[in-house]
Order: sequence, then C-alpha cells, then structure tokens
Amino acid sequence: MSTPSTPDTFAADFLFGASTASYQIEGAATEGGRGPSIWDTFSHTEGKTLNGDTGDVACDHYHRYADDVAAMKEIGLDAYRFSIAWPRVQPGGSGELNREGVDFYHRLLDELIAAGIEPLVTLYHWDLPQELEDAGGWPVRATAEAFVEYARLMAEEFGDKVTYWTTFNEPWCTAFLGYGSGAHAPGRSDHADSLAAAHHLNLAHGLAYAAIKEVTADAQVSLVINSHLPRPWNVADPRDVEAAHKIDALANRIFIEPFSKGEYPQDLLEFTADITDWSFVHEGDLEATRGTLDLIGVNYYSSHTVRHHDGPRVDTGEDGHKTTKFSCWPGADDVEFMPLLGVRTTMGWNVDPSGFHAHLLRIHHDLGLPIIVTENGASWPDEVDADGRIRDIDRYRYYHDHLLALQRAQAEGADIRGYMAWSLMDNFEWGWGYSKRFGMMRVDYDTSKRTWKDSAYWYANTIRTRQVTPLDAIEGLVSTPPRAY
Ligand code: NOJ
Repeated sequence: MSTPSTPDTFAADFLFGASTASYQIEGAATEGGRGPSIWDTFSHTEGKTLNGDTGDVACDHYHRYADDVAAMKEIGLDAYRFSIAWPRVQPGGSGELNREGVDFYHRLLDELIAAGIEPLVTLYHWDLPQELEDAGGWPVRATAEAFVEYARLMAEEFGDKVTYWTTFNEPWCTAFLGYGSGAHAPGRSDHADSLAAAHHLNLAHGLAYAAIKEVTADAQVSLVINSHLPRPWNVADPRDVEAAHKIDALANRIFIEPFSKGEYPQDLLEFTADITDWSFVHEGDLEATRGTLDLIGVNYYSSHTVRHHDGPRVDTGEDGHKTTKFSCWPGADDVEFMPLLGVRTTMGWNVDPSGFHAHLLRIHHDLGLPIIVTENGASWPDEVDADGRIRDIDRYRYYHDHLLALQRAQAEGADIRGYMAWSLMDNFEWGWGYSKRFGMMRVDYDTSKRTWKDSAYWYANTIRTRQVTPLDAIEGLVSTPPRAY
C-alpha cells in the first residue's frame, strides 16, 4: 500500500468499497440453522422498531448474494465490508459451529475472491446470540470470553480467505444504545451496565486480536469506531468546552485510550464515579488491550454541537439518536445537544464534511495508525422518476464532498487506505426499520429487486477514474432505464 495519491487522485491500491451488515441485509432469519439474536427479539417486541419492521427478510441477501457480488463487480468495488452473523455460525454463541451457516460465508467469500473484491470482515455488527444476552449480555465478562472463542473459530475457518478483520462495529452503540438509552437491542437502560459493556467490548477486542493473530499472523485486525465530533456551542465559554470534552470521553476516548495508552481517561473515571466503581476492570485487562490495533476503522456521518446545561437534562434527539426517556450519556446530565444547523438528511443528521476532515486528522493524531473509512453516507427520500431513474444528487454530492475532505486529510498526513460507502443497498435501519434509505442501489421491499441509483453510476466512475467525479458529469454516466436485477 505504498503508491502515493497525488492531491486529486486516489492511489491505485486505495480501497474503494461499500459496507453492509448481516442483520440489515441477509434475511433468512430462521433458515440454515441460524439461531435468534438480540435484534430478532427486539424487533419482534411491540413498539421497538418503526412500523414493527424486522430483519426477517430484509434484502434477502442470503439467497441473492451471488447477484449482489456481480453488481459490486459491475460498480467496480475494490473491497466489500460485511459482517458475519454470529447466531448463523454459532447459534447459541458457544460450542460447535453450524456448518450450514459457515458454508454461506464460504460461498460469499469465494464469490468475492473470484470477482477480485477484497473482503473486509466484521465479526460483530450488533447481532448477539440471544442465549448470551439471556446469560447477562455485554455487561458480563463471560460474553467477552465467548466472543474471543468465536473470533478464534472464525479465523481458523476463514483465515486463508480473509486478511482484514474487524472485531466490533461501533462499540459505542452496543454499549450506550443497547444498555444505556435502550434504543437498540437488547433495549436495556442502566448506566452502570453500559459502562461495563463498553469495557467488556474493549477487552474482547484485545483478547480476540491476540487469538486471531495466533491463527493467522498476516491478519490486519481493526476496531470500527463511530465518530462523534462534539463541538462546543460557545468556544469562549469554558463550561461549553468542558461539555464537549465530556462527550468526547464517552464517545471517543473510552474506545481509543485503552488501545493507545492502556488506560481509561481519568476524567471519565471521575465523572462516572457515582455510577460505577469500574471494578469490572480487572488487573491485566488494560495490558491486554494496549497496542492491539493494526488499523482503525472510522464510521463518519455528521457532527454535534453541545453546551453546558444547568438543571435536568432534556433529551432533544439532537445527538442523532431516537429521543428516549433515558440518556445514552452516563454522567453527562449537564450537557445539552444543540439543534444542528444547515442541511439535514432524513435521519435528522447534519451534513458536515469539514467535521469529517477534522475527525480523520484527530484519529490520525491520536492513534498514528492506518485508517480505513468503514462507513460514510446519507439517507435521503429517493424518488423514483417516471423514466425509472433515481436522481439522488444529494447522496452523490455527499460522497463527493466527503471524498474531497478525505483527500485534504490525506494531504495533511493522515494515512487513509480506503473508503467504504454506506451502503451498497437500502436496508434495515435498526430502530427506523425500512423507512430510511442509505443505499446506492434501491431495494423494492416487496420484490427484493435492486435498482442502481444515480449515485451508483457516480461512484463507479469515481472508482474507475480514481478521481472524485464532478457532479455535473452524471448525465454522461447513467443508463436509462437504470440497471436492475
Ligand atoms: C452505523 C451502523 O454501523 C450501520 O449499521 C447503520 O446502518 C449506519 N450507521 C447508518 O445509521
């Protein structure tokens, strides 16, 4: 990975790709010996997801994977980031592997390799086997131990086909939405549990890193963190600066410093002292996490502005998450998320490429590791026009502006090895069900038919030319009607 990019050209070995996740696209929830996950239970519980949507069928990728890989090849993807559903390969989260589930991923990997597409495999994108949740879930240490065993088995099984491994996707969401606000599965709300979960995720990463490397020494092992970019409302007010620093501790530093420094931020330990004594951190745990990253994966969508707030916290939803009665920010009742200015996506998230640039440089500075942008993208209303085209200019403008920001960060020294757009196709957007569309291909949920949006053509050209395609070049790139399958 040494060919340098010129200021406006991406190196030949820069990985352009797209991301998905198992529960969001696979469907076939009860097929092939798959066991239930916390997302099956959660989505089947009344009131937990919008319109009661579930991942039972999703995009039916389990059956349509070969056609999906063919589409990836046509778009020209260098890489594809997907996740293995733990409950599909090890239904109860421990013991024997389920051959039928394992074979599905062998088939998918073989298809990708034959198409010349580099697989980026995530071991955990939120679908914990229900049995492990019933035994306590991420707040208990045994779940970390089970994960390490699962990671080892996956490395043994797929190590000759996979170089890039990610242990966890967005551990912040697992810990603080799953066990804090309860907006995500398993839907529990206990601040002490969410902090214990965060630690067990970090610990599980550190131990799994060692286990994967033992099996396959060439593996490149990463963690994917979601970027929160908290900016102070009034930079001249030290209380607002402090508020931003607090959110930074809970969102970013809690998942960075155990790996870079082998410790948790002192301020975090202090402002959460009333919630937990952190006795779940055992002797040796932080030695096991320190230095266990070969690469860092960055998911970036938007930024935040926060300020100090006296009195009881008002949850406005401006932290980009479904407003819930219970906060996902333990110890930060004195922080208020301010309304986001400017253009907003249908998620309510602001479009802020300068935040992307700032965040990439920050991660580069804090970790000094190669970076892969593992998710970046936006949901928009996506009308289908009379000629069948989906003129999603907002989406490819978003890619365009963020890729230019990424190039600026590269020029300023960040070692960025790849960019994975979220997402290859529309899919199950967790608590929002199928109401949000992030794909560069549209999915008709009645028929599972996929149709290329203009953004897929735009992205294909960007990959082919290794340059950010100008927005007004689109008419020369699309076919009418658009490709579909
Ligand atoms: C991050 C998550 O990893 C992914 O599953 C989700 O769909 C996107 N963000 C968009 O919210």
